[in-house]
Amino acid sequence: MIKRFLPEAYNLRLSGVYICRMERKARINRDTSAELFRKAKSLFPGGVNSPVRAFKSVGGVPLFIKEGKGCRITDEDGNTFVDFCCSWGPLILGHAHPEVQKAIFETVKRGTSFGAPTRLENELAELIIENNRFVEKIRFVSSGTEAVMSAVRLARGLTGKDKIIKFDGCYHGHVDALLVKAGSGLATFGVSTSAGIPEVFASQTIVLPLNDLEAVEDALKKFADDIACVIIEPIPANNGLLLQGRNYLEGLRKLCDKYGVLLIFDEVISGFRVGFEGAAGYYNIKPDIITYGKIIGGGMPVGAYGASAEIMGQVAPDGPVYQAGTLSGNPVAMAAGKATLTELLKPNVYKELEKKTNELVRRVQGHCESKGYEVRVAHAGSIFWISFSGKPILRADEIDPKRMEHFKRFYAALLDEGVYFGPSGYEVGFVSTAHGKDALDHSAHAICRALDATFE
Ligand SMILES: Cc1ncc(COP(=O)(O)O)c(C=O)c1O
Repeated sequence: MIKRFLPEAYNLRLSGVYICRMERKARINRDTSAELFRKAKSLFPGGVNSPVRAFKSVGGVPLFIKEGKGCRITDEDGNTFVDFCCSWGPLILGHAHPEVQKAIFETVKRGTSFGAPTRLENELAELIIENNRFVEKIRFVSSGTEAVMSAVRLARGLTGKDKIIKFDGCYHGHVDALLVKAGSGLATFGVSTSAGIPEVFASQTIVLPLNDLEAVEDALKKFADDIACVIIEPIPANNGLLLQGRNYLEGLRKLCDKYGVLLIFDEVISGFRVGFEGAAGYYNIKPDIITYGKIIGGGMPVGAYGASAEIMGQVAPDGPVYQAGTLSGNPVAMAAGKATLTELLKPNVYKELEKKTNELVRRVQGHCESKGYEVRVAHAGSIFWISFSGKPILRADEIDPKRMEHFKRFYAALLDEGVYFGPSGYEVGFVSTAHGKDALDHSAHAICRALDATFE
């Protein structure tokens, strides 16, 4: 059990804005994690195999996780947390779900990879296609990044056009053409956000603000002859949760039709999360291509892209758009995906998830309102985001980076309270079917106390 304590550090309220006077560090024992991290730093860049895991934006030593069961994880020092990171979204059934484990164990007994078709690929694909109005054919790959990269190539191959439109505040994996931010001026071509991306790639991407259909129409008017696709996270959940209105998404669909441009929904997070049909079903809007990742593999590395049979007919070996993968459709990963999606198809799963999330959000939001904290909890389905802002945020440039300082203090207090979030204020939280009443009760209190420690 983690010991609670009174925060020593304090805040000063100045002209309506809380300023953090002292950095607050989590008090949990992290000695073993620290030792492992020291070793990891000699082995991996920054000691990690994916940057946000390094705890750079919250400070301190990242927790090395030893095991997970249900909604809880335990680190190498023996600290246990209620987990709302859920491996960044895939674990909608929680950790070590018995059906998923069983499917993996049974499959792995027969071998791990054949590089040849297996029955399990058919079974997972059928499960998806029979229960999703928006996908007639699918191709499995091994990550969300690979799914998006392939979908963009497909859009370009199909239209014979090179440029793409993306939105500031949406993340689509580390695809060259999508690691791009807006240049100066409206509808300007992108500037890469990573070293190693040729300018010529970034220049093929137009970056626009969210929630602004006029900006999209302006860009389409100017460049429609060169634009292959518009790609968006229909529920943008990588830069906070920047929920767009249905009208906006419908408007995007109409503009794409008007200017002969394909619409890609990147549903790597929202797919199978806000409903079995993802955001396309949630809003009832049909994109031309959809990408999946995370939940589709039930915690194993799977991504996918899907579309109508006609569009998917352009993909090799049927068509000219080449895309391949040694481990694509890996049987062990397919088995985990199939077991997960089978559970999700049971009655009321999504209703229950949403109900639990609404209740958690209601309690935290209510506490903040009663205390006068400038905090808003955005949520959709079982995704939520605690933002240190007094009003709803719809665009990336509406987030005040200075207010992220609050998240640092909040995060340290949360860990001490036994609750684990993704270690950045820009990351959303996920509720799983394994989050039971006791864990959610504990978490609601813990989050409120951590907010008190942040502000008081
Ligand atoms: C919307 C979206 N697209 C693509 C990706 C990339 O997926 P992966 O990390 O599996 O490559 C992510 C990852 O978080 C994502 O959230």
